[in-house]
Amino acid sequence: MSKDKLWGGRFAQPTNKFVEEFTASIDFDKRLYSQDIRGSIAHASMLGKQGIIPSDDVVAITAGLKEILAQIEAGEFDFSVSLEDIHMNIESRLSAKIGEAGKRLHTGRSRNDQVALDIRLYLRDEIVAVAAYLDALVDSLLFQAESNINVIMPGYTHLQTAQPILFSHHMLAYVEMFKRDKARMADCLKRVNVLPLGAGALAGTTFPIDREYVAELLEFDGVTRNSLDSVSDRDFALEFISASSILMMHLSRFSEELIIWSTSEFKFVDLSDGFCTGSSIMPQKKNPDVPELVRGKTGRVYGNLMALLTVMKALPLAYNKDMQEDKEPLFDTIDTVKGSLKIFADMIREMKVNVANMRGAAAKGFSTATDVADYLVRKGMAFRDAHEVVGKSVAYCLSHNKDLPDLTMEEWHGFSTMIGEDIYDSITLEASVNARRATGGTALERVKAEIARLKAER
Ligand code: ARG
Repeated sequence: MSKDKLWGGRFAQPTNKFVEEFTASIDFDKRLYSQDIRGSIAHASMLGKQGIIPSDDVVAITAGLKEILAQIEAGEFDFSVSLEDIHMNIESRLSAKIGEAGKRLHTGRSRNDQVALDIRLYLRDEIVAVAAYLDALVDSLLFQAESNINVIMPGYTHLQTAQPILFSHHMLAYVEMFKRDKARMADCLKRVNVLPLGAGALAGTTFPIDREYVAELLEFDGVTRNSLDSVSDRDFALEFISASSILMMHLSRFSEELIIWSTSEFKFVDLSDGFCTGSSIMPQKKNPDVPELVRGKTGRVYGNLMALLTVMKALPLAYNKDMQEDKEPLFDTIDTVKGSLKIFADMIREMKVNVANMRGAAAKGFSTATDVADYLVRKGMAFRDAHEVVGKSVAYCLSHNKDLPDLTMEEWHGFSTMIGEDIYDSITLEASVNARRATGGTALERVKAEIARLKAER
């Protein structure tokens, strides 16, 4: 019945049953319960301090809310769809418990600034959690890089063998990406951690509230500066989902590589049994389900970003009920990103590297052809000419079923007399890798220095 509703005053008819279900958000916003209670306790304390409600009320409200918190945590709270959302479920229970004082809690506040507060409180903790998962993944990558410091693999462009690189260098490429993801999260947190409460429904409040005090109680860095913006802005959530989409894109690329590396054709790595599954029909199969699923879930997070962008697009200021649709994409993104990072950190730590297969593949595909060209440049030839010479020698090798290191001095001289005996030592896999010594290169000494730097930063 409308009379049971906290807003029932102006209604004569009860809400249509299906409308109640259709408009309710309690099924998904109940996860904001502790933030809602924390925010309400801070709001009540401020109302008391400002003399807006009696201090006895603050005591009763605080005790009542703490009881409700305990009840919810014990699984003893009955959430009601007819009370629509977490805010009204808690407030109505409070009034039922403590009477008049409970009915004064909502003074100078609206659900519009309340929900904005709750989401920000919730998201800021989750951002910290995501950052911690990113750290764990970076640790696993550094562990793999250090344990396989000397391992050489083929580096690719167009998925064609390009130049030999250290496997550790490849791992550190992902470390760089995940560190930027963490920086994006930290940057997003700055804009999340601002108090919107005090905006009221949209225009501010007639009561002499102290927003800075509430911000201090709730450990916000500051308060929002415009009441309309406070209740209608969700760009902080969009920013989080964007940063998450980029993060998932990194995980998805890594997933793709792990899937390729796990094939019988590549056999570069073995993912541990605990992270793979078998086939119900083909007994030989060991499928890389975890990276496949993470790759798949990336689509889901991109979808969440599109969903929320589309919800927000063209909404007039200030609050619109459309915005209740912010929560599911946001929550789903949080769950997906945390789950994906957690499983990746563990999977990467347990991954086994097949040193011989990586090295064998690195030696194929004329991966040191650039080194021959660079060798000729050091002997005085212009790079374009050197490129031509080496191109011809590769064509010769292909038609004679040889590799560059197999060529005799005589054969080399057929391409250029500038080539001497020292060519052989210049085009080993180690020589190729270790010659790339400038900052950012794959040389062993450079990669070791990068690992030391990254570990010192951790
Ligand atoms: N459940 C609502 C939401 O998540 C809370 C805000 C409702 N405000 C309103 N004016 N109906 O958006």
